[in-house]
Amino acid sequence: MAHRVVDGYIDKFQARGSAELVGELLWGAAADIGLAVAGVPEDRIAEARECAVVTADFWWGRPTEDEQIQVAHRMGRWWQLAGELVAELRRRPGAGWIPHAIEVAREDRSLDEAVLQTMMMSGLVAAHETTMNAAANALLLLLERPAVWEALREDPTLTPRAVEECLRLGASVMCWRRRAAAPLTLGGQSIEAGEDVLIVLDSANRDERRFCDPDEFDLDRRDAHRHLSFGSGEHVCAGAALARMEIALVIDSLATRLPGLSLGRAPRYRANASFRGPIRLDVRWHP
Ligand code: HEM
Repeated sequence: MAHRVVDGYIDKFQARGSAELVGELLWGAAADIGLAVAGVPEDRIAEARECAVVTADFWWGRPTEDEQIQVAHRMGRWWQLAGELVAELRRRPGAGWIPHAIEVAREDRSLDEAVLQTMMMSGLVAAHETTMNAAANALLLLLERPAVWEALREDPTLTPRAVEECLRLGASVMCWRRRAAAPLTLGGQSIEAGEDVLIVLDSANRDERRFCDPDEFDLDRRDAHRHLSFGSGEHVCAGAALARMEIALVIDSLATRLPGLSLGRAPRYRANASFRGPIRLDVRWHP
């Protein structure tokens, strides 16, 4: 399914010789795949992906006062739609992890309607922008290094290694929130139970005590997979395998289908304290 989705987007611009990959490929592909895996029916995917993107701005963005009102309205609409989707999946169950959660909720009373609705909302955000940004960051890192891109084109078995190094150096979730369950001391800093902690995953990924020459991109790095871009411990990212597969699929499909792929103008990033990825990714190739 994921292959079909990615190929479908590339089909639309392959003959053209230039494209803006965030808008024309990554945004739609990550949403379509993430929503399908969640179990959102195909005919509601377009509506759900339009709604879901507001969450990153709501949680971590820097909207002006006027924008804050719009963001709040859009979050309200997203909450409503998530409820409608849960109700619809109750009526016509299918495959996917939300239908699975609905099934489990028949036995487990702690999974009430509000929890299912929240799962629908946060699950889609978890699956969409994170993966879209990680794929865009990966393409930037690789296309800025034409020799590495060429090596991947010639030998696709290198892709999984490239994906890990890109996830390490191009984290799409730069920091995350935690609340301390017990008092502890970390790096000489005391943290009380119940205190909020901001963990900067991107900094850990570049820790020179952990990685040799951490700011260098190294396709031969053997421990790149020990990055913290998916978090760690009990709440480690539930979609890490899917995200890795999607990023690899995008790299392999573009490397195979767009010969001579190179970057266009320098990317701009939107103001966000945690989610990181270019707003646009302009590229060209020999059609
Ligand atoms: C490159 C893409 C992705 C990145 C960088 C990413 C990153 C993260 C991070 C940092 C966390 C918090 C981990 C922690 O607290 O230790 C997380 C949690 C989570 N992610 Fe992802 N994620 C990605 C893709 C996905 C996808 C595709 C899905 C779903 C299909 C997903 C579902 C989840 C869920 C459900 C959680 C919560 C896990 C829990 O609290 O037990 N993520 N992710």
